[in-house]
Amino acid sequence: MDVMELGYDQEKDKLLHEIDQLKIENEKLKSELSTTKEISKYLNESEQRFEQLFNNISDAVYYLKIDKEGVSGNFIEVNKIAYKRLGYTREEMLNMSPFDIDYHEREELIQILESIMSTETLIFETMHVCKDGTLIPVEIKTHNVVMDGETFTLSVCRDISERKQAERVIRDTKKQYQRLVESSTNGIAVLQDDKWVFANEAALKLFGAHTKDQLLGKSIYDMLYPEFIEKYKILTKFGGKHARLNSTWKNLDGREIHTEIVSIPIIFRDRVAKQLIIQDVTERKQAEDLMIQAEKMNVVGQLAAGIAHEIRNPLTSLKGFVQLFRSGTVPNDKFLNIMESELERIDVISSEFLTLAKPYNVDFSPVDIQELLKNVIALLGTEASKQRISIDTSFLNETIIVDGVNAELKKVFINLIKNAIEVMPDGGTIKIIVENSEEAVDISIQDHGIGMTDEQLRRLGEPFFTTKETGTGLGLMVTYKIIDHHHGEMKVKSKLNEGTTFTVRLPVIT
Ligand SMILES: Nc1ncnc2c1ncn2[C@@H]1O[C@H](COP(=O)(O)OP(=O)(O)O)[C@@H](O)[C@H]1O
Ligand SMILES: [Mg+2]
Repeated sequence: MDVMELGYDQEKDKLLHEIDQLKIENEKLKSELSTTKEISKYLNESEQRFEQLFNNISDAVYYLKIDKEGVSGNFIEVNKIAYKRLGYTREEMLNMSPFDIDYHEREELIQILESIMSTETLIFETMHVCKDGTLIPVEIKTHNVVMDGETFTLSVCRDISERKQAERVIRDTKKQYQRLVESSTNGIAVLQDDKWVFANEAALKLFGAHTKDQLLGKSIYDMLYPEFIEKYKILTKFGGKHARLNSTWKNLDGREIHTEIVSIPIIFRDRVAKQLIIQDVTERKQAEDLMIQAEKMNVVGQLAAGIAHEIRNPLTSLKGFVQLFRSGTVPNDKFLNIMESELERIDVISSEFLTLAKPYNVDFSPVDIQELLKNVIALLGTEASKQRISIDTSFLNETIIVDGVNAELKKVFINLIKNAIEVMPDGGTIKIIVENSEEAVDISIQDHGIGMTDEQLRRLGEPFFTTKETGTGLGLMVTYKIIDHHHGEMKVKSKLNEGTTFTVRLPVIT
């Protein structure tokens, strides 16, 4: 009984133990099963993800096998974009091979396929032919993958029509610009380190070069007149975007040419450079010179009347003295002094007139600007006082010297003061003020005349712009030219019905 009982208990324990074991096994199996399920789910998902990726990337993907002779069978798999782009269905494409879609001849394509096989990845450009015959430029990147001892090729194809189109546009634009530059009637040239490195036809012609070689490589300073070299350096150093300069050159034919140049900083062949746009103003300059000449004659003509008047006054008084002496009056010191000063005046006036009428002496020399102003005022004094205009001066005690052409500067102030007189028909005061700053002198001519409108102000200095019945509209043009020639500048302030102030600034010699 004991044994039996023992046997039974043992049996029972064993069974219970086995049940526990089974339970554990079961749990294990259960958990394994869920892992497997998860893995399969995961695999499923990743397959889906892969398919999504495969079909939704923007590049066409072809999966194929190429044999050693460079011949390929039909595509094994293609993604959606691959068959859509070429206008086929998936089924149609799976019955086709690279030979059906590449535009190369069979033999050429075999060579390409051979190179694909001989390297891990290859990138090249080709064209694909659509079902309807249109061609699409593509860039292909191939990858060779080994699976189960066999090599397969994955070929990723990017549509580069847009890139090609952009490249074409750039090429065309470049050509257009080239044509534009080449056919421009303005000279266009490029300088690097002050040497010519590019010149269009017009520039070559302008500089008298028959071939590019005659000009390219030469220094700009070989041709630019010495007095413009400094100006050119300043222009290109501080010129900013669009600085202008009038300059004179001796061209390769030995001809003198006048140009207006605009300098623009650019990058040329990867280095900083200056692009010059050069306009030939030789003819314009000649015409201007003619106008200046004409204007000179005109002012001389106008002055002549005033001068005749100026001379007649002292002459009349001299005649009076002669008559006095004839009638027996004995000349005394007082009479003789008056006669002498009248003769002096005639002398001054006629020599002034002669300086003006003489062709300009273009050599610069030191000019005492206040002395010059006094002379001009003396010359115009009578005309002013006839109109009940007084000329007030505010001069400096020190002597101010500018480097200039005496007769030209004289002309500037004659023009400005005459203009001031002409706008004050009811008389008044014209003020001439001399002020100096560090390196320049400012000479202001202030009138209380009719003033100017904005439109008039804008057009000042334009040839033939005049508001006067008998005006020439050349005076200010000449004035601006002369001031420019002296490296000076002129400012104008004007208020309608209140008056105008012209201020001439000239560099001084220190
Ligand atoms: N001081 C001034 N006040 C008002 N207008 C002036 C003055 N100076 C010049 N102008 C204007 O500028 C124009 C051009 O002057 P200018 O070139 O000397 O030619 P012109 O004196 O023969 O008219 C004048 O007709 C006038 O309209
Ligand atoms: Mg005038």
